[in-house]
This record gives sequence, C-alpha cells and structure tokens, in this order.
Amino acid sequence: MIEEINSIKNQNTFKKSLFRGTIFKFSNSKNALKIVDTIKKEVQNYYSNNLESLHLEKDAELISKQLISKLKNQDQLLNLFEDFLKEINFEIKDCYRDKFVVRIAPAEFKKATYEASRIGIHRDTWGTNIFEQVNWWAPINNLDQTNTLIFYPEYFNQPIKNTTSTWDLDTYFKKRKLGEFDYPSAPQLLDDLKKETKTIRVNINPGEILCFSGSHLHSSSKENSNTSRFSYEIRTVSDSDIRGKRYAPNVDCALNAKYPKIFKHMVTKNILEIN
Ligand SMILES: [Fe+2]
Repeated sequence: MIEEINSIKNQNTFKKSLFRGTIFKFSNSKNALKIVDTIKKEVQNYYSNNLESLHLEKDAELISKQLISKLKNQDQLLNLFEDFLKEINFEIKDCYRDKFVVRIAPAEFKKATYEASRIGIHRDTWGTNIFEQVNWWAPINNLDQTNTLIFYPEYFNQPIKNTTSTWDLDTYFKKRKLGEFDYPSAPQLLDDLKKETKTIRVNINPGEILCFSGSHLHSSSKENSNTSRFSYEIRTVSDSDIRGKRYAPNVDCALNAKYPKIFKHMVTKNILEIN
C-alpha cells in the first residue's frame, strides 16, 4: 500500500494512482534531507536538547508552541520544498500550496496545545472540499511506532459519519482572530471505526517524504510514547488535475463550500480559484 519511489516517471499515471489511494514514499532526495537539516538548525537556535526528549522539559508545551510559530511558513523552507518537487519531477507550474507547517506530537497521547498535539481520525478534504488535494508529510526526527501517522485505507472508498455538513472554515478563522478557541479547527468524526479495521502504521525516516491523497482517512497514533514527534506537512492542489478531472472520490464530505483560498501558487503566489 505504501509505494517507495525516487521520482515521478509519468504525471498522469502517478496522479491517477494517488487519487485511487496509493500512498507514495519518496526516498533518496537530497532536498528532502536539506529540509530536515534546515529545520533542525532553526530549532537549535531556540532549543538545543534532543528533539525526541522535548516532553521531558518542564515547559515543553510552551517551547513547542514557540518552535511551531517560529518555523511556520518560512520562505527558506518553502523554497527547499519547491526544489524537492522539481527534483522528483512533480510539475510546479500549475501547483498551489497551503502553509508549510512544522508539527510536534507530544509523547503523552492526551497532551494537546493547538498544533502541538496528536491529531484524531480525519480526512484533510473534510476541511477544504477539494478532492484534487495532495498531502505531503515528513518526519524530522526518528519516529517511534507509538508516535507516528496511521492510515485506515479501507475507508478511502467508504463513508463514515462526520460533522462536515455543519462545519465552516470562515467561522473557524473568524473565531481564531478573536482569540476564541471553542470552534473545532476541522470537521470531526462522529462514529467509531468498524472492528478489525486494517491500519497502516507509517514507517519512515527523516529525509523521506510521504505523499498521499487528502481524502485518506488518517490520524496520529493513540498510544503513550517515550518520544516526541517532530514532523512537517504541506498540501498542494494542481490546476491541471482540476482541469483534467483527476481527483479522489468524495464518499462523505458534505461541506457547503469549497475553500481554495488557503492555496497560493508556488511561484506567482496567486490564490487558487475554483469555479
Ligand atoms: Fe491530516
């Protein structure tokens, strides 16, 4: 289910496979390693101990919050990510991206502060209603199997109850601007997964990058761990996929609107528009 590759041989075949649910892992990329090194160097300006042990610090939550905000959407990281896309032959001339975000998943499952938290079961497309959306995700430190990303691949084609019919991105943005955090940052799952649902627990090293359809149902792992997890993520939407009608199935998203405004063109910085 996770296909390891170094570069894209054919855009159309790659995208079709991606939107049918294949999860790709890009290995042996010099730019992916550069991204990890650059983030680690940036982190060291503010925090010099082992990343894996961050949860042992007295003020771990505050440090996490500060690191995440310092590292958010830095131009040097966006440029390196663009270099990575070029290196793997991903077409960038019609590619839009959201923000480059570093996330810290604490060792203890229950500890949560905004982006510094474990994430519950969701599809990223529940937040945007854009099924051409591609997720890129990568670890910065060595992952422990008790603190990694988990996929539920059989739900790629199967619906599950959720709150998309009542959630609205604009309401969420409005509330955050007012400093109110009582509105969920994304739609929520409303049902339990079926018993014996198959899971894929991601095994990936720093310097490798995972690429998957934003429609995949996924979450952070739920166990308590001995390590803090540092990862980064960014999402892309390619205009050629919209025009070429290449997209993942919508099995259960009932959002009233699409939210292309969170995506900016990789080069021109124009905002994505979907008619
Ligand atoms: Fe996600």
